[in-house]
Amino acid sequence: MQDGETGSVKIQDIGPFSPDTIYRGDALLLLPEVPAGAVDLIVTDPPFAIDFRAQRTNYNRTGSRVLDGYCEVAPDKYGDFTNRWMEEAYRVLSPTGSLYVFSGWNRLKEVLCGLDGAGFHTINHLIWKFQFGVFTRRRYVTSHYHILFAVKDPLHYTFNKQDHYPEDVWVIRREYWKGKKKTATKLPRDLVSRIIAYSSNPGDLVLDPFIGSGTVAVVAREMGRHFLGFEVSSEYYAFALERLREESMRIGIKSERGNAEGEN
Ligand SMILES: C[S@@+](CC[C@H](N)C(=O)[O-])C[C@H]1O[C@@H](n2cnc3c(N)ncnc32)[C@H](O)[C@@H]1O
Repeated sequence: MQDGETGSVKIQDIGPFSPDTIYRGDALLLLPEVPAGAVDLIVTDPPFAIDFRAQRTNYNRTGSRVLDGYCEVAPDKYGDFTNRWMEEAYRVLSPTGSLYVFSGWNRLKEVLCGLDGAGFHTINHLIWKFQFGVFTRRRYVTSHYHILFAVKDPLHYTFNKQDHYPEDVWVIRREYWKGKKKTATKLPRDLVSRIIAYSSNPGDLVLDPFIGSGTVAVVAREMGRHFLGFEVSSEYYAFALERLREESMRIGIKSERGNAEGEN
C-alpha cells in the first residue's frame, strides 16, 4: 500500500505502478500489469482511427503550435484494439467501478460492441455537445461526441448525484490554449470534473490509459482523487508531464511523478 500525494485515503496495491504517476508506454501492454479490481473509475478518450490530422490548421489553431506525435490506430485494427483494452479495463475495475469512454460517431459501433463483449453494462449514452466543429460543404458539421457510461454491476456503482435533473446531453465549451504549444484533442476540464464528481469519491483511483495532454490526471488530482495514466507518444507524454508539473507549482504540490520505465 502506498499513500499518494493528493488524497488522504490509502489506495490498494497497483502492482508495479505508483499512484499519481503517468507512464510512457502502450496501454495494451501496461494494462495487463494493473492488478484486478484496483481501479475505481476509468475516464478515457482513446484514439479514434480516423484520418486525423492533428497538425491541421483550423479555427483559431495555428498548425505549427499543435503538438506532433499523436498516435493513431489503423481503421481495420480498431475493433480488435478496442476489444483488447476494454477487456483489460473490465478486469482492472473494482466491482463497483465505472468506465466513461469517449467516441466519435464513426467508431461508435466498435465501442458499443467492445463494451458488450467485455461484460460491461451500459448505463447511459451521453452526448457532449461542443460549440464548434470543422467547416463542411456537403454534410452537417459534427459538433458532438458520444460518451458511454458503463459499469460492472448495474445494481452497485458510485453515482453521486450533483444535479436534481441530470440530463444526458451536456453542452460544454471546448477550451482553447492561445499562444502556446497545445494538443488537438484536449478534453475540457468541466467535462472531466463532472464525470469524476458523479462517479468517484475522494481518495479513489482514476485511470486514463490514453492520457494525451494529461487532463484526466490534472483534474483528478485537483479533486482529491489518485490518478494513473498511460501514453504511448513520447511528445504527448512529455507534454502531460510538464502540464502536471506546472499545475503542481500553481496549486503548491511539491513533486510531480512521471516514469518512463513503463516504456515498451
Ligand atoms: C484522444 S487522445 C487523448 C486526449 C486526452 N483526453 C486529453 O485531454 O488530452 C488519445 C491519446 O492516446 C494516445 N495513444 C494512442 N494509442 C495508444 C496506446 N496504444 N497506448 C497508450 N496511448 C495511446 C495518443 O497518442 C493520444 O495522445
